[in-house]
Amino acid sequence: MTTYPATGRLSAPAENPLLIKNIRLYGEGEPTNVLVRGGVIDSIGPEVQADGAAETIEGGGNVLLPGLVDMHVHLREPGREDTETIESGSKAAAKGGFTAVFTMANTTPVTDQPIIAESVWAKSQALGLCDVHPVGSITKGLEGKSLTEFGMMARSDAKVRMFSDDGKCVQNPQLMRRALEYAKGMDVLLAQHAEDDRMTGGSSAHEGENAARLGLRGWPRVAEESIVARDALLARDYGNRVHICHASTQGTVELLQWAKEHDIPLTAEVTPHHLLMTDDKLRTYDGLFRVNPPLREQRDTQALRQALLDGTIDCVATDHAPHGSEDKCVEFENARPGMLGLESSLAVIAKLFVETGLADWRFIARVMSERPAEITRLPGHGRPLEVGEPANLTIVDPQHHWVSDSAHLASKSQNNPYAGEEFGARVTHTILRGSVTFDLNAATHD
Ligand code: DOR
Ligand code: ZN
Repeated sequence: MTTYPATGRLSAPAENPLLIKNIRLYGEGEPTNVLVRGGVIDSIGPEVQADGAAETIEGGGNVLLPGLVDMHVHLREPGREDTETIESGSKAAAKGGFTAVFTMANTTPVTDQPIIAESVWAKSQALGLCDVHPVGSITKGLEGKSLTEFGMMARSDAKVRMFSDDGKCVQNPQLMRRALEYAKGMDVLLAQHAEDDRMTGGSSAHEGENAARLGLRGWPRVAEESIVARDALLARDYGNRVHICHASTQGTVELLQWAKEHDIPLTAEVTPHHLLMTDDKLRTYDGLFRVNPPLREQRDTQALRQALLDGTIDCVATDHAPHGSEDKCVEFENARPGMLGLESSLAVIAKLFVETGLADWRFIARVMSERPAEITRLPGHGRPLEVGEPANLTIVDPQHHWVSDSAHLASKSQNNPYAGEEFGARVTHTILRGSVTFDLNAATHD
């Protein structure tokens, strides 16, 4: 098997040492100090001090986590820089605690060639705010007809490690089979947007009581589940891994359970919005709540939460999907699907799992950093908080009350479904290779 070098050239680590004082690793035990030097964790302990020149963060007993990793965002560059750019998306990512994100291929032009992927990666490294890994498309132009050159993109300076037609599903099973066989040869990940579009044409909401009452055409669960089942079987028979994007139904959870019981290499992510909200939100006909796959019912949110807790679903990914008001503040059926997520996801997940006592900060580290880094085979991120490890870190204040406000976002777009929602935890600092990429105290937006 050919394996390609793990990462393209990275932005340089910080030159000056950084001392983080009074911090609780994974929110556990007594506060301690962490010294970062040369982009790696140099020493940890209550006696560790700065050597004069170091920048200092007063941790105030807050929680230190490995830098968050989001394997599913849309940063809209190239093509829709009016709604998000690598720069604005990186700022939103850093503000949300992310040190690495994967940006989907449904750009204009589509990321189906090395040169597009390389330009995304190079811009992100010049900015040094967040490692933005381009995802390559599985099919040329996202047309579902012929495969792209995975090898050329994997070998390019961008070192593309994930391929997806996200926004669209690879409908043709034979093409998906060929993609799996091709991907296997170079150990890259295929991520599937599971939607049989023969069942979802013209639909804008979950098929159920709310859609019926509101007069909206429904997107049935089976359109997702039938593709998840098909791809599980393809992964079984052609021996390569498949990752399911934005799992949204109880039936998908059952299929993932079945796949895991049979040692099929199928992984899955869930979004904060599918965990938190149901299609009850549609009652106001507000296009903000149109998303693909759609918000579903309570039995789905319950099954998704349980699946994330027990590991059936591997990780959280935001599907951060910026859209301008001209595409959102319109009739529900004409609104483009998608919601912002980068700046609020940690707070949403903490609210659902930590503040309820269902899980601890180790769990957050697992589902928002370690697992996504493992699934994407991303070196340097999602690593243990130990001496010698890269200093990609996130600090969270677990008792910071705040209210989400769409007028104060780092993102260029405002399609924030959490406006007015109260949260109890907040990212205070993000650190990439020893450089502070976000500091709440210095932030101009709240
Ligand atoms: O809601 C969504 N928005 N789902 C997708 O799959 C694509 C995304 C987008 O690009 O806006
Ligand atoms: Zn998608």
